[in-house]
Amino acid sequence: MAKSIVIITGASSGIGMEFALQIDAHLRKTDEIWLIARNRQKLKTLASQMRNNARILTMDITVGAQIDRLRDMLAEEHCRIRMLVNSAGYGIIGDVAELRLQEQTGMVQLNCEALTAVTRCCLPYMSRGSRIIQMASSAAFVAQPGFAVYAATKAYVDSFSLALRQELKERKIYVTSVCPGPVDTPFFDMAEKHGSTLSVKKLTLVSPEQVVQKALRDSCHKRTRSVCSLPIQAFEALCKVLPHTLITAVIRWLQG
Ligand SMILES: NC(=O)c1ccc[n+]([C@@H]2O[C@H](COP(=O)([O-])OP(=O)(O)OC[C@H]3O[C@@H](n4cnc5c(N)ncnc54)[C@H](OP(=O)(O)O)[C@@H]3O)[C@@H](O)[C@H]2O)c1
Repeated sequence: MAKSIVIITGASSGIGMEFALQIDAHLRKTDEIWLIARNRQKLKTLASQMRNNARILTMDITVGAQIDRLRDMLAEEHCRIRMLVNSAGYGIIGDVAELRLQEQTGMVQLNCEALTAVTRCCLPYMSRGSRIIQMASSAAFVAQPGFAVYAATKAYVDSFSLALRQELKERKIYVTSVCPGPVDTPFFDMAEKHGSTLSVKKLTLVSPEQVVQKALRDSCHKRTRSVCSLPIQAFEALCKVLPHTLITAVIRWLQG
């Protein structure tokens, strides 16, 4: 019989770690939860707190050979993936002309390319009732001066998820794009290394527990998008009606 597994990328920190803990607490009849990130020690500490069997996969998912390794493991172990959570990602605040090129292309490599590669690699092992949760962001709703590449990568994740959802509809595999505003995690250690988040944004800060609770509920209800808090739901609605040239001008003006 196929082994029933859950795969979580970015499990060593923040939202990914919270997904691991909540899935571990609530999902029954799972043989293993596969935890992916680069920091082995953090994954070991997380695994020690879980009651399900956790498999630690120390991987840099931007490296092609590591994706090949994941593909081989899935094939060798006759896995059925019940749930895939793609949470690995980073953002760096700063203007395009000021940030180093590698900082910016790195966001594209991790947030877009690696997420696509992990998803593609998992699809053959998913079947009726399997679920995919992709960590996008409210930055996907509109272009963001001062956070341009990150917002563009998250628009990719949201768009990719919506299209994939339609492609997988007949196989009854459900894809949910998770679009929170600022979440209280170590994300900002990296994001703010050259510039700071708008204080108006920080007013909407939520906890990873809230984001993950809502995301798991929305995924369970087969919803397309999961948007955690009222202010961010209002922002999503505004982005649907107001011209994006106006919103981007206001964002730039707020940056002073
Ligand atoms: N926090 C927010 O305000 C916020 C808001 C909206 C959306 N998001 C999105 O939510 C997701 C999770 O963010 P977070 O807040 O949990 O950030 P975080 O605490 O910094 O976690 C990021 C995770 O990604 C992993 N990671 C980074 N590079 C990797 C690589 N090359 N290969 C494998 N894993 C890698 C990190 O683990 P290692 O360093 O151990 O590899 C870590 O586990 C991201 O996609 C982010 O864009 C965050």
